[in-house]
Amino acid sequence: MDNFFTLTKQTLTQTDPAIKFQFFEKLMKDFQDNILDFSSSDIPEIFTQPSFHTICTIVKPHEVKQRKNLHEDEGKIALLHAIAHIEYSAIDLALDACYRFRGLPREFYDDWLVVAEDEIRHFKMICSLLETYGVKYGDITVHQGLFEASMRSLDLISRMAFIPRYMEANGLDSNQALVKKLESIPKTQEIIEALNIILDEEIDHVHKGDKWYKYACSLKENFTCNYFDIVNHIYPNSFKTNKSLNIEARKKAGFSDEEIEILKNF
Ligand SMILES: [Fe+2]
Ligand SMILES: [Fe+2]
Repeated sequence: MDNFFTLTKQTLTQTDPAIKFQFFEKLMKDFQDNILDFSSSDIPEIFTQPSFHTICTIVKPHEVKQRKNLHEDEGKIALLHAIAHIEYSAIDLALDACYRFRGLPREFYDDWLVVAEDEIRHFKMICSLLETYGVKYGDITVHQGLFEASMRSLDLISRMAFIPRYMEANGLDSNQALVKKLESIPKTQEIIEALNIILDEEIDHVHKGDKWYKYACSLKENFTCNYFDIVNHIYPNSFKTNKSLNIEARKKAGFSDEEIEILKNF
């Protein structure tokens, strides 16, 4: 009987996207067929480099090519590549949640496998748009911010607070703002449609993060979870002023009115 955590690690660390997706299909099928062993005898590895290090040139965040003018192809390409990279990173983040956190209810692994499946679909959808410009994933430099954030949040509460409930929730805000901006720019209809599909599914990812964040908090005795403190502990000053919040999406994903008020007033 194959071990769930071994297969998940194999899939997560696989550097070739096509092979990674094949591994994932098998992992998902075996999970759904309930033929995997969930025993855990190893300590989850803390990775020092992301799986995309062989396909992308990794640079510091400020060195990543900027979007420039979205009216021009070059701007659209840079934007699409940046989104493809977020989606590719998100595949590994969902798999890392499955791999790293042991002894949780089956629903936890089910949730994050479904998220990984969504992220693979998002990645492929954006790559097919990039292809129309003759560009493929890896042609433009990337940073590894999401990967680094994941390796700084190695317990369940921190991870769920920071990755889905902070980073992906920020994505809900920026997706909406980006769609508004693109609406006034010609030849962006396909990008807008893709972003709307992503936004809809990302609400569910944040919602799953919210559910497991609250679950992890409920297991802690003598500890009151403060989302803002937890996030700021991982990266100080994470909350910025003047953000255009996607309040409707955040509420659907589980943010309370009180949290939204705090977010508005940063
Ligand atoms: Fe996504
Ligand atoms: Fe996501």
